[in-house]
Amino acid sequence: MTSIETFRSTSKDKLRDVLTRLEKEGAALGHFNVADHVLLKAVIAAAADTKLPVLVGASEGEREFFGARQLAALLKSERQESDLPIFLNADHTHSLAKALEAAKAGFDAVTIDFSALPFEENVARTKETVEAIKAVNPAILAEGEIGDIGTGSEIKETAQGGKLSTPEEARQFVEATGIDNLAPAVGNMHGMLKSMVQGKAKKHLDLERIAQIKHAAGVFLTLHGGSGTDDEHFRKAITAGINIIHINTELRVAWRESLDKSLAQDLNEVVPYKILRPVVDSVKQVVSSRLRLFHGQTVSPEAVETVA
Ligand code: G3H
Ligand code: ZN
Repeated sequence: MTSIETFRSTSKDKLRDVLTRLEKEGAALGHFNVADHVLLKAVIAAAADTKLPVLVGASEGEREFFGARQLAALLKSERQESDLPIFLNADHTHSLAKALEAAKAGFDAVTIDFSALPFEENVARTKETVEAIKAVNPAILAEGEIGDIGTGSEIKETAQGGKLSTPEEARQFVEATGIDNLAPAVGNMHGMLKSMVQGKAKKHLDLERIAQIKHAAGVFLTLHGGSGTDDEHFRKAITAGINIIHINTELRVAWRESLDKSLAQDLNEVVPYKILRPVVDSVKQVVSSRLRLFHGQTVSPEAVETVA
C-alpha cells in the first residue's frame, strides 16, 4: 500500500523514480485523461485527497482542445502549489512533430503510438521519435505501443481489438526502439461497451501473457484501455508487471452523466461554477476509487456506483 508519505519529498522527483518505487511496493501509477479544466481539477483533487501520485494524460485531440502548452503550464503551476507528485503525459501521439511539441512544452512522458503501422515501420518511427524527444529532455519517459486494442475512449456497440502481443514481439520492439515503457495488447480495449457502462460486464486480461511480456521486455509496462476492467484483474495485472494504468472512458461517462444531472436540476441556472462543481466531484470520485485500487487500498462502494 502506498501513500504520499512514501512520496513526501518526491514532487520534484523524476517520473521514472516514482515508477521504480511503486513497482517495489506492488502498486501502479494511475493515468487519467483530461480534455478540459473540469477533468483536470477532478484528477488533481483526487490526488490531493488520496495522497497518491498521478499521471495526467492528454491525447492529440485532448491537447488540441486544451492547448498543449497551456495544459503543461497549468500542471506546472498545480505541481508547484500543491507539492504533489503529479506528472503529464502526451497520450497517443501519432507524429514526430506532435511528440516534439509535447517534449518542448515540458511534458514528462510521451506515448508514441505508431501501432497501426506494420511492425517494422512501427519500430522505425518509434525509434526516431524516442531519439528526438530525448534530445529535448533526456529524462522524458518514452512509451511505445504494439498490437491492436481499438481506438477511442467512447461507448461502443461491439468489442474492438486484434491479435494479442507476444513476448518475442515485445522483446524485439524494446530492444530496437530504446523505449522506457511498453504498451502491449493483452486483452485490453479502448472504450467501453454499453453493458460495461451499465456495470453488467467487465473487461478481462490475459494475466499470464502480461507476466511473460514483462519477463521478455524487461521495461515498465503500461495498460491502456483500463475503463471497465474487473477489479481483481487490475490487482493481478499489477502483480504480473503492469506499472501504469490508463483510464479515460469512465471519467468521460461520469463527466457526461453528472453534467446532464446538474443542468437538469435548475433550468434557469447560468452560473458555470455552480453547474460544474458537482461534475468535478463526480469525476473526482471515480479517479479516487481507481487510484486506491491501484495502490491496494479499499475502494468505496459509492465511487464504484458512479461508474456503473
Ligand atoms: O490512453 C487512454 C486509455 O487507454 C484509456 O482507455 O478509455 O478504455 O479507459 P479507456
Ligand atoms: Zn490508450
